[in-house]
This record gives sequence, C-alpha cells and structure tokens, in this order.
Amino acid sequence: MTRDSDPSHRFDALVRQFTEDSHALFGEMSARLESCRADLREARDLAFPAVLALTQILEGRDSFTYGHSRRVARYSIRLAEHLKWPTDQIKLLNMGALLHDIGKVIIPDSVLLKEGKFTPLDFETMQLHSSTSGKIVHRLGFLGEDVENWVLFHHERFDGTGYPDGLKGEEIPIGARIYSLADAYDAMTSVRRYRQKMPHWTALDEITSCGGRQFDPDLANEFSLAMAEPPEE
Ligand SMILES: [Fe+2]
Ligand SMILES: [Fe+2]
Repeated sequence: MTRDSDPSHRFDALVRQFTEDSHALFGEMSARLESCRADLREARDLAFPAVLALTQILEGRDSFTYGHSRRVARYSIRLAEHLKWPTDQIKLLNMGALLHDIGKVIIPDSVLLKEGKFTPLDFETMQLHSSTSGKIVHRLGFLGEDVENWVLFHHERFDGTGYPDGLKGEEIPIGARIYSLADAYDAMTSVRRYRQKMPHWTALDEITSCGGRQFDPDLANEFSLAMAEPPEE
C-alpha cells in the first residue's frame, strides 16, 4: 500500500487541508467584519448631527423640557465613564439618550403640554412614547438592537412595575437602567409646569432611596458617586 492510498494518511491530509482553509477563511471573514464595523462606526458619526436635529425638533415643542434629552445624555455619559465603559459603547449610549423620548413626537399637544391633572387615558397615551422611541431607533437602522432596547425600556422599574413590559431587575438592559436614573435626576432638578426644581443633593438622596424599587440599587449608588460634582447649569 502506498502512502497516498493509506486511509489514515489521507484522512490526516484532509484534516490538515481543512484546518488551513478554515484559518484562511476565518482571517478573511474577520477582516471583512472589521471593515463593516468601521463602516458602521463612520455611518454613526456621520448621522450624529441628524440625531441632534431630531432631538431639537422634539424639544422645541415644549419649553419646560427644552434641553432634557441632551442633559439625560450628559448624565448617562457621566455614569458610563465612571463605570469605565469603552468609548464605542459610550457613543451609542449618548445617541440612544438623545433619542430616548423621540417617540413623544406622536403625543398630541393636548397631552404633552397639558397644564392640569392627567387622566388615566392621558397617562396611557404618554406611555406610548417609549415603544414609539424604540420603533424609531429600529427604523433608523444604524444604532443596533442594544440601543433600540435601551430606549424601548427606559421607563421600566427595577421592581417590575414599569412599562411597557414590566421587566424586572437585570432583565432590564443596563443602558435602560442608566437612562432611567439620568431621566429621573433631570426631571427632579429641572423646573416643570407643576413644581419647582429640587436641589442637587436632595435629588441624589431621593435616587439612592429609590434603589431596589424604581432603580437598580448598585447603579443608583454609582450614579451618586459619578454625580458627586454637581453639573453646571
Ligand atoms: Fe421617557
Ligand atoms: Fe425623558
């Protein structure tokens, strides 16, 4: 029997060939994937002014919440930097924060700008905004599923009593848990139609005391540390 007709030798040769081919293919796929990732990063950077413009359109409708999305983005970034998130993730967190309330574009002025008490129907209408924000981010297509879910679930509560799905604890994606803290802090420290703003330290105390109910308790503590320096007005 020649070496080439020996079945075990032929099998070894096939395995060797398969391994070499797989390595070459894997190398080529990795290079292509990296180039797609670079294209996606570039697309996101190019789209950033459009994201800001969308945010400004929404904020222009209501003088009381003007600047809200940009502040939520700033506070979310503070926490993510404190948690040492990688730069690419922080950029995504920033864009998602800018768009977290974009779904309010479908809320009629009669509800969005209402001065009096909300009826149950008003609450229901208002609550539609987070699903709509998620759909808009999905349609934009370049931010990915994580950001879509961060935006969609930004009104979930740690104890499972939030909306739209009543997710509980760590079922709530971390970006959404961050937005929820930044959102609440901004709501408390800004003047609203129905109340004056709360001082910085009172708002942080309120946030840590709601850890485990409204907020992720560990993240709430980290948020307090990240926000130790009061933000500039
Ligand atoms: Fe919201
Ligand atoms: Fe918000």
